[in-house]
Amino acid sequence: SYSCHDLTALIFLNLFGAGTETTSTTTEWAMSLLLNHPAALRKAQAEIDAAVGTSRLVTADDVPRLAYLQCIVSETLRLYPAAPMLLPHQSSADCKVGGYNVPSGTMLMVNAYAIHRDPAVWERPLEFVPERFEDGKAEGRFMIPFGMGRRRCPGETLALRTIGMVLATLVQCFDWERVDGAEVDMTEGGGLTIPKVVPLEAVCRPRPAMRDVLQSL
Ligand code: HEM
Repeated sequence: SYSCHDLTALIFLNLFGAGTETTSTTTEWAMSLLLNHPAALRKAQAEIDAAVGTSRLVTADDVPRLAYLQCIVSETLRLYPAAPMLLPHQSSADCKVGGYNVPSGTMLMVNAYAIHRDPAVWERPLEFVPERFEDGKAEGRFMIPFGMGRRRCPGETLALRTIGMVLATLVQCFDWERVDGAEVDMTEGGGLTIPKVVPLEAVCRPRPAMRDVLQSL
């Protein structure tokens, strides 16, 4: 039997576990992609400069207005969905899916990773092209980094806000370069999540235009 205190601890651990690594890995993949695609990085920086400027730090309220930044986050979640097989589900009753009889109690794994890279759905599926999400162009395309239905990720809004805020701040405050100009290694690890096999290392310099803001922190 569990006490109320135990249950609170379990819920907290669950939320913490589900929420931290997924969010940090996605941010690491996004920065890695940007470092390998300097034009996208420059475009994101220009967007922030135009919308926020360099005399104050970007805030959470700015993030929804940074359309290109959102495209970068979407494209990162398409290529590297933090939970590539979602979470296992189990059918609670006999049902029919796509013509197959699925008995009650069957474990169902959904390969979101494969769906997100399906050439029948996405043009040049393996390429990082945030522009594919611009102006709602990708609306209706099948993307499920947070699952769907009743057990869909309840942390989606928090995750998108956190990733957007962290990326926007990193891009606004610093100029980024690859170590010795070498491509960032994008090897994917296996498991329940998609970790980077080689952790991201990069060179960053405070942007001269942001010096006053950074010094006042
Ligand atoms: C980029 C970040 C995240 C990704 C990609 C992600 C993805 C997912 C996915 C795919 C599922 C399973 C959905 C399904 O099978 O239908 C899930 C479940 C869940 N996520 Fe997230 N998640 C993220 C961030 C978070 C955050 C920040 C929190 C909490 C603060 C969170 C809490 C949960 C919980 C509690 C569940 C289980 C829900 C249930 O079983 O009813 N996640 N997440």
